Amino acid sequence: MKPTNAPKTYRVKSFGCQMNVYDGERMAELLGEQGIAPAAEGEDADLVVLNTCHIREKAAEKVYSDIGRIVKRGREAGRQPLIAVAGCVAQAEGEEIMARAPAVGMVVGPQAYHRLPEMLDRAVKGERAADTDMPAIAKFAALPRRKRSAPGAFLTIQEGCDKFCTYCVVPYTRGAEISRPYADLVEEAQKLVEAGAREITLLGQNVSAWSGEDAAGRRIGLGGLIRTLAKVDGLARIRYTTSHPADMDDDLIAVHGEVDKLMPYLHLPVQSGSDRVLKAMNRSHTAESYLKLLERFRAARPDLALSGDFIVGFPGESEAEFADTLALVDAVGYAQAFSFKYSPRPGTPAATMDAQIAPEVMDERLQRLQASLRRDQLAFNEASIGTNCEVLVERRGKRDGQWLGKSPWLQSVHFTGEAEIGDLVRVEMTSAGQQSMGGALLQPAAA
Ligand code: 5AD
Ligand code: SF4
Repeated sequence: MKPTNAPKTYRVKSFGCQMNVYDGERMAELLGEQGIAPAAEGEDADLVVLNTCHIREKAAEKVYSDIGRIVKRGREAGRQPLIAVAGCVAQAEGEEIMARAPAVGMVVGPQAYHRLPEMLDRAVKGERAADTDMPAIAKFAALPRRKRSAPGAFLTIQEGCDKFCTYCVVPYTRGAEISRPYADLVEEAQKLVEAGAREITLLGQNVSAWSGEDAAGRRIGLGGLIRTLAKVDGLARIRYTTSHPADMDDDLIAVHGEVDKLMPYLHLPVQSGSDRVLKAMNRSHTAESYLKLLERFRAARPDLALSGDFIVGFPGESEAEFADTLALVDAVGYAQAFSFKYSPRPGTPAATMDAQIAPEVMDERLQRLQASLRRDQLAFNEASIGTNCEVLVERRGKRDGQWLGKSPWLQSVHFTGEAEIGDLVRVEMTSAGQQSMGGALLQPAAA
């Protein structure tokens, strides 16, 4: 690679989950600290970071075609940007990317972002650099703190996963479960609130596996962490995602009933309603144990809204087994959900299982599942009409004087009236769609 001029502008393109969004924001700040500015809308950047996701689809091919597009654009503009590939595809296929795509100057795995500045120095000198080391904690300690925050902020409390669901690449790309220390999280939450956050979503592949020691040296879990964060002045709302049914302990369930700031919303992936499929997925729960668990959460917090993840077409899934998933959906009544066609991930046990399902069968099942999920989502939203709740104002709507915010149940609510971003206002729900609610402002924010 030829030496390049030190980049003056950057663009970070994040794909996939909220953890990638969090990482993307931290990388952007790190680059900002190096004196590199975000490229203006529509302008070519000197440094492009592709923050990739490997969880589904033909992720690597997408990265190569993105790289191809950037190189072509660079050729037309007469100047090639420096390309960095970050995220989970970088972790899984870093060496191959370096070999196949000479235009890529840097490959940086999800646990190595904090070394971006030194890699950048090397890349500017013309040395290509790859870093896909795994220990995660160092990165959090080294990443800069946010100076300004949106009303709804993310805080990564845990990374990695030891569950090894047979379809999933996360244990390979993000590594083993690592919990960030309690004191760091409390401090970061306080800083976020000082920077303008009113709501914090605790993030991790498996936040329910978070564990740490509180200020008195006692071992605590996610429930204990939430109790502490609820004491942060100025913080109005707490959420967490994603969790695993096997790690939901009594204390976490109790916290849902005790801590007002913890929003009445639970995203708890189930993946399938068939016990045979769940076993083949190595999910360590059954449909019944999942439903029983939800009952306990609902007993603690009766207005809890539920969300889940589903995979259709896991190898060997029969029509009757798929029908079990539909039955589970009917039994739960999800307020929201994410559903995917099974995608074989290289290196995972399921990828080499017999009886892979034909794409057209998966398409058809996904459509049926999504029809049920859409029906329930609309029903949930319609049931809110006539009630009122607090809405956290997040941004302006498309129309004049219109605002968009979130209800406690994570519904998008739009309304018009006097408000500011970051306000908590009382809104009556007046209309419902599948994706959002219309509301009328009852009471502006307290001054
Ligand atoms: N194919 C399809 N969906 C997957 N997910 C994870 N791995 C795969 C895969 N190989 C889904 C699961 C998980 C969500 C984040 O992505 O539903 O909960
Ligand atoms: Fe993947 Fe399963 Fe871990 Fe979730 S719990 S990240 S699906 S291995």
